[in-house]
Amino acid sequence: MSNERVIVVGAGGIAGAWLPHVVSEGLDVVAVVDLKRENAERRIDEFKLSGARAMSDLHEALAERRADFLIDLTIPEAHAKVTCAAMEAGLHVVGEKPMAANLDDARRMVETSRRTGKMYMVSQSRRWDANHESIRQTIASGRLGRITEMHCDFFIGAHFGGFRDAMESPLILDMAIHQFDLARMFLGGDAESVWCEEFNPSGSWYAGDASAMAVFRMADGVRFGFRGSWCAEGCHTSWNGNWRIIGTAGTLVYAQDESPRGEVVGDRSQAKFNLPLRSLDVEIAEVKKPGMHGGLDEMLRFLRTGKIPQTECAKNFNSLAMVHAAMRSHRDAARVEIERL
Ligand SMILES: NC(=O)c1ccc[n+]([C@@H]2O[C@H](COP(=O)([O-])OP(=O)(O)OC[C@H]3O[C@@H](n4cnc5c(N)ncnc54)[C@H](O)[C@@H]3O)[C@@H](O)[C@H]2O)c1
Repeated sequence: MSNERVIVVGAGGIAGAWLPHVVSEGLDVVAVVDLKRENAERRIDEFKLSGARAMSDLHEALAERRADFLIDLTIPEAHAKVTCAAMEAGLHVVGEKPMAANLDDARRMVETSRRTGKMYMVSQSRRWDANHESIRQTIASGRLGRITEMHCDFFIGAHFGGFRDAMESPLILDMAIHQFDLARMFLGGDAESVWCEEFNPSGSWYAGDASAMAVFRMADGVRFGFRGSWCAEGCHTSWNGNWRIIGTAGTLVYAQDESPRGEVVGDRSQAKFNLPLRSLDVEIAEVKKPGMHGGLDEMLRFLRTGKIPQTECAKNFNSLAMVHAAMRSHRDAARVEIERL
């Protein structure tokens, strides 16, 4: 079988993380498109993409370069335009998170995918991670009992420069989407409603709100609490966030530089202030292609076998809906139901 042909759109920072996997999978890059053509040229040189043409006009690329799928690595505001144009032109798409900058765009993307019959999957890179897959499997095994609450703390002082500094809700829209999506992955269930307060701490170098606290009601009454800031200097958490997941049988914790670990009640027969506990064995899952490579791998598997990716757009909509409900909850100072498709 000949290698799949791909158009890469967006040759900024994250393209540097995707292109090594595109190369290692032996894909045939036929065009790199960026509004700043020099960015496309730089990436083509850097990764020696000899069959690729540097272009600045997506429609020209779609008309002139034959491809099987497109990788959308543009900024969130451009995702809907790029992805819908690609699907209308007959290409499948794997695109960076967040799916879109607003829910109307996201709905249009799902509708376009359904109407054209083209796959659009969102790359939620943190799903393809051995620790995260282990947490999912441990919860699914029932060894923590029935899950009752999950908490995630995320605190990093991140000086990006660029589009995030100007966004209205940089933390919730561009970062917390990862943790919200992980909450859905860990639980195997969707979110139903949220209370959220966003704010911009004094001394912030962001124009929009860089900090937030949110409480989601997830499926089966599970509460998911998220506290985070991109404007917190010192004692950073991991980029995945530090997690505490509590079930009726025990607790699992997961923090930076550590594998997930847990404790469950060992003996309920004695009436003691603290019940005797035993450690929970968390078997570390094997994830051969982590991060963006995992997202690319799911798209290639779809192209080769038809297997639907776990972040197919209609499913991923719920993660984006969590983001927008959280922002609306802050704006309206009210609990907000999570929108459904
Ligand atoms: N999964 C992760 O961990 C992760 C990490 C970083 C960024 N991201 C995501 O990747 C995406 C890109 O982020 P980045 O840091 O690379 O941004 P960036 O600003 O460095 O790069 C974006 C590039 O897209 C180009 N571009 C913008 N609009 C375009 C359009 N309509 N057509 C063609 N090119 C266009 C810009 O010129 C720029 O070169 C975002 O959605 C971001 O959230 C994901």
